Amino acid sequence: MVFGTNSNMIRQSPNLRLLFRASLSKVGARSLTAEASSVLRESEPMLRNEEYADIDWNNLGFGLTKTDYMYKAKCSHDATFQQGELSDYGNIELSPAAGVLNYGQGLFEGTKAFRGENGKIFLFRPDQNAIRMQIGAERMCMRSPSVQQFVDAVKQTALANKRWIPPPGKGSLYIRPLLIGTGPILGLSPSPEYTFLVYASPVGNYFKAGMAPLNLYVEDEFHRATRGGAGGVKSISNYAPVLQAISRAKGRGFSDVLYLDSVHKKYIEEASSCNIFVVKGNVISTPATMGTILEGITRKSIIDIARDLGYKVEERFVEVDELMEADEVFTTGTAVTVATVGSITYKGQRLEYKISDGLVSQKLYKMLQGIQLGKIEDKYDWVVEID
Ligand code: COI
Repeated sequence: MVFGTNSNMIRQSPNLRLLFRASLSKVGARSLTAEASSVLRESEPMLRNEEYADIDWNNLGFGLTKTDYMYKAKCSHDATFQQGELSDYGNIELSPAAGVLNYGQGLFEGTKAFRGENGKIFLFRPDQNAIRMQIGAERMCMRSPSVQQFVDAVKQTALANKRWIPPPGKGSLYIRPLLIGTGPILGLSPSPEYTFLVYASPVGNYFKAGMAPLNLYVEDEFHRATRGGAGGVKSISNYAPVLQAISRAKGRGFSDVLYLDSVHKKYIEEASSCNIFVVKGNVISTPATMGTILEGITRKSIIDIARDLGYKVEERFVEVDELMEADEVFTTGTAVTVATVGSITYKGQRLEYKISDGLVSQKLYKMLQGIQLGKIEDKYDWVVEID
């Protein structure tokens, strides 16, 4: 029985605090003993059994808000991941010789927890993030958690931080699983130890302009990925090299950068934070993922939804010139969801797309969001209810 447990232990252990909170909500606040009340008072606000954290839910952007808990598990290079546990959200200690710091041995994922109108909490296809992390880990010579460990860690992190999951329609809890080489290594070889971390932050729209159509800049100097590189996996090393292109474009008023293939500089690949789709009549085309493009989970979900709605979806080489002929362009990603593109600038020429009611991107977004929030029947079995 949790009330019989030493209260200092409860104060110090996040797992016990969670258990304690669960017991409190069962017995009801009025029957608390003085001891339980004092633990309640002294511990973090979560123990007050608040349904929601005290933040402005109407103005969530895509910034980091510290939440209560994170998850951590470790593994040595030749072993499997041990059982992880929740701890208070906070800084981690690293060896200066950690593989991730010296050689960029790291992967990240992004997934979301949603609160439905009925108060239920949903995850969206977390198993797909787990599989993608495993594929990435193989490419980066890292050990990885099993699909079950990964999904369980995401569930635990979402539930422990439940009060940070925005009210329906206000956003989501963005969950960031990280796999990093934490063992010390001086020569260039795989790290002798790996850490799997999961933290979370409530988020709203990814782009500062909210749901306003994006203005993309086609970059023909910098490339995001090269053939034979690691562009197809979610390696942390894919992201810093595009920061210069992004800041240059943002400084000129663009929302994001669209990259071209590094060989021909002729085929579109993806934007810095999302995959891209081009609509022409009933055909929706998106660059095929052949090692240089991230296999987005929103990307593949949108492909399935679009096909079921009767669109012909083609995964193929898409020439940059096709953008000029397109009826509509949109991007997809976990953070971005589905974002309509309002203009594309390429070689100094700006092309504007007509934004009207009945856009394909908006139809697809509504379907996806409806499924994620439990409002539309999930015939795909994508949604995992966790409450
Ligand atoms: C995501 O969509 O989850 C991503 O990882 C993109 C990131 C640049 C925020």
